[in-house]
Parts: sequence; C-alpha cells; structure tokens
Amino acid sequence: MKDFIINSPLDMHLHLRDDDILKLVAPLTSKYFSGALIMPNLLPPITTKEALFAYKQRIIESCNHDNFEPLVTILFQVDYTYEFLKNIKDEIIAVKLYPFGVTTNSETGVSSMEITVLRPTLESMSKLGIPLCVHGETKGFVMDREKEFLPIYESLAINFPDLKIIMEHISTKESIELLKKYNNLYATITVHHLLLTLDDVTGGMLNPHTFCKPIVKRPDDRQALLELALSAHPKVMFGSDSAPHHRKTKECHDGAAGVFTAPIALQLLTQLFEEHGKLDNLNAFISLNAQKIYNIKPKSKVINLVKKDFIIPNSYIYKNEEVVPMFNGKKISWSIEKINNG
Ligand code: DOR
Ligand code: ZN
Repeated sequence: MKDFIINSPLDMHLHLRDDDILKLVAPLTSKYFSGALIMPNLLPPITTKEALFAYKQRIIESCNHDNFEPLVTILFQVDYTYEFLKNIKDEIIAVKLYPFGVTTNSETGVSSMEITVLRPTLESMSKLGIPLCVHGETKGFVMDREKEFLPIYESLAINFPDLKIIMEHISTKESIELLKKYNNLYATITVHHLLLTLDDVTGGMLNPHTFCKPIVKRPDDRQALLELALSAHPKVMFGSDSAPHHRKTKECHDGAAGVFTAPIALQLLTQLFEEHGKLDNLNAFISLNAQKIYNIKPKSKVINLVKKDFIIPNSYIYKNEEVVPMFNGKKISWSIEKINNG
C-alpha cells in the first residue's frame, strides 16, 4: 500500500482552549479534519448560550481553513432547565460531564454523581435527544479510576435508556465489556491509548508529553482497545482528546495532564491500521461511525496520505505559546500529501 484516502475525518473529542493557544492549535485541526467536537472545559466553562456563541465565533476566526465545522458543547450543570436545553439544543452536539476534580479545569465539574442529583438535567436531555459525553473517572487510585466509575456508567445507562451516553477516551478492557452490554453506551478512543502503555510514560525516563487523564494503562488494556478500534466496532469512534498545554506547564513540577496529537493523529492512525492490515476499517473508525452515532453529515474534506516519512515537529509555536506534540522528533511512515476541500 503506497497511498490512502481518508474522507471527511472527524475528531469527536478535542480541546482547543482560548486566546493565543486557540489561535495556535485550531488551524492544526481545521486543516486536517472536517469537524471536531469541542470540549467546554474553559475557565469559566461554557454554560450559557452567550458564552457558547462567543466561543464558537472565536474558534471559527482562529481556524483559517475551509470545510471545517466546530461541533460545540456545554458543560453539564445540575440545574439546567428543560426550556434552556430546548432553546440551545440545535446549537450544540452534546453536553459534557466532568466529575469534580478529575482532570484539567474540572474544578467546575459536578460534585455528586448521585442519579437523584443528575436526574432533572438528564431527563430533559433524554427527552430532547441531546447526547451526554462523560469523563468517567473517580478520584481513587490512578490505575483504577475508570474501572471504579463503571457502576456509574451502568446506572446512567439503565436509568436513562433513551439517552445516548458517550464513554469518553476509554482506556481499559473492562470499559469495553460494559460498552457492549448496553445499547445506549458508545465510546471514543484516542490515538495515544491505542499506542501507549504506562511504560511509555514512567517505565524509563519520565515523559510528560504522554501524561494524560485517564492515564494510559496495561498492555492487555491497550490490546483490547486496539482490537475494538481496528475492527471499527460501530459503537466506537475516534476522539483524539488532543489537549494542548504550554510546554512550561508540561515540563515542570505539577505538570498538566494532556497529550497533544491533533496534527499527527491521521498519520499515526494510518500507520497503525496499515501495520495491522486493517486500512479498510479506518474510514469507519475516523468518520462513518461518528456520523451514524451523532447523526451528522460532515463537510467534504479529502485527505490523501502517502507512504513517505514524516518527522514530527519538536513543537508548534505562536507568539508566546509553545506546544509539544506526542512523539516529538520521531518518524512516522505516512505523510499527508494533499487536502481537497469540497
Ligand atoms: O489528559 C487530559 N487532559 N484529559 C482530559 O480529560 C482533559 C485534558 C485537558 O483538558 O487538558
Ligand atoms: Zn478531554
């Protein structure tokens, strides 16, 4: 195989931030993807129509590429009214829920995961057909946080059978079992959870650019995720969770969680699917499954990849912002040759 085409790739979990960092990273997604689901975990988070519209506008102004659509979200609040959600429904693709304190900027997340507390908003969302995206981790021991959250996913799935629930960035084989058990559960998978285990973060020299939440796990977890993604199981879709942080806030004490992959994800996924002889499934994993799950029609963007070495840049810089991608300085055997909008 010497070349490969990806049609209208979608990144169904992306952090774009704001201000100069937004201006730095937004073009690195809008160039290669035809749409991306944008996370609302700014400080303050996006929780009103005014903030949503203003943020969407700032994203569009930062993108500078055709045929890219930011699919925006608001942060889950326990006191959203039915009228508010009805009024904002057509402007958003989903509502994102973070439990309090589990990851970057989640100090504005929900402080109780009790169904009785979540019920009013979730019932309205369910009636209105608004999907729920969840960062499913507890504050337990770091390797067990996702596993400990599974009973919560299960009770959400049982209590709200008509609500589409997206288990974001799944990282364990136990999550896959649960995903398959309930019709209303779906999941995103990142490229880093397909490629890394905890050894790549802490097994040798410490690598802050592979540190994220949920932390990458054991080889058998990665293997299970890989099999699911390579088969393009219809309940999973690509969501990079590309999460840029300034170099200084990664290479330091108290380094921030987040792996930046936006400009290298397509090349890495093509390499990975080719290595496993599964390129035929890549368009489903990276676009078609998400189209069906979210019932969306992306703008046309044709990405031509060729088998040619691509050296991952050491960093991306704009004004005072500098972001280091995963695998900086390393070689990938696939490059993006041409992009056709329309
Ligand atoms: O590692 C992460 N970083 N995981 C998340 O869920 C959030 C993200 C961020 O916003 O930096
Ligand atoms: Zn995220």
